[in-house]
Amino acid sequence: MPAVRRLRPGDEAILAALARDDTEYDLEGRSGPMKPLSARAARAFLADPDVLVWIDSRRGVVLGFLYCTLVRLRGGEAKELLLYEIGVRRAHRRGGVGRRLLACMEKWMRAHRVREVWVLADNPGATRFYRACGFRIEREVPVYMTRRLR
Ligand SMILES: CC(C)(COP(=O)(O)OP(=O)(O)OC[C@H]1O[C@@H](n2cnc3c(N)ncnc32)[C@H](O)[C@@H]1OP(=O)(O)O)[C@@H](O)C(=O)NCCC(=O)NCCS
Repeated sequence: MPAVRRLRPGDEAILAALARDDTEYDLEGRSGPMKPLSARAARAFLADPDVLVWIDSRRGVVLGFLYCTLVRLRGGEAKELLLYEIGVRRAHRRGGVGRRLLACMEKWMRAHRVREVWVLADNPGATRFYRACGFRIEREVPVYMTRRLR
């Protein structure tokens, strides 16, 4: 039986495996293996209560993960979630893993009175997935910008 659980301190090896196997969880040709965090950074990541990572695994094999983070707001509802990443192993897609991971996130949101989650869907398949799971497209779309310091 597949089981979804949240990563906790002590799960550094799983976090490192997710990074090493990143290609498996992304779209074909889009990413290579990711360098795992240092032991210290991994401990800090997993100890952060606002960092939420769930994995769905079966017989010790991780089938998919979801990583989101709590964003504190300066007014209104006080907090929201940013769904930063979700990935399901290629061979296990369209089997309900993504839906199960989102259901766990939703359960956490209800328990912690967080009412809104947002995501930047970056490919058509993902957009269809989010739509099928109840997300809607906002009418006013911001421009995604970054700046990297040299
Ligand atoms: C997007 C992703 C996480 C979906 O995970 P999944 O386990 O395959 O999704 P599920 O099986 O739970 O799908 C739930 C529903 O979403 C919809 N859906 C999922 N993937 C879809 C796709 N590629 N095209 C159209 N609809 C899709 C379907 O309605 C599906 O229900 P159905 O299979 O009964 O028709 C997975 O395809 C993935 O890892 N993609 C690569 C990484 C990625 O794009 N991440 C998101 C970046 S923003």
